[in-house]
Amino acid sequence: MIAIGSDHAAFEFKEAIKAYLIARGYEVKDFGTCGTERVDYCDFGFRVGEAVAGGECEKGIVCCGTGVGISISANKVKGIRAVVCSEPYSAKLSREHNDTNILALGARVVGIELAKMIVDEWMSAKFEGGRHLDRINKIADYENAH
Ligand code: RB5
Repeated sequence: MIAIGSDHAAFEFKEAIKAYLIARGYEVKDFGTCGTERVDYCDFGFRVGEAVAGGECEKGIVCCGTGVGISISANKVKGIRAVVCSEPYSAKLSREHNDTNILALGARVVGIELAKMIVDEWMSAKFEGGRHLDRINKIADYENAH
């Protein structure tokens, strides 16, 4: 199950990404927002972050105007490693090296077709483990100690 969420600035963009994921056979749980009425991106970053960190969803995709605010918010949830990407290379490497569990996209930054390529790379790439796991564990140790 893939969690998805956005603020008002990215509502239509989020709907398009959701439809794309469903068409590619993924199950998607939509955590809102549900329209273009002004909302706070942080509420949706937290909701998607909690769904992923709690195990209800295996990964999440969050969208706001830039992808910045909602990625910062998701990253405040313990266990979340969210990356904001505007090109596929970082999206792929963020899975392989950093085991990111949330992808953030900026609806005012990337066009929808580029966003779909980023999603494809991010969804299909696998965490490589090994030396990268030691670093992920170091981050988790820091997070748990503070
Ligand atoms: C909303 O206007 C905008 O600030 C928000 O979508 C996002 O870009 C914040 O990081």
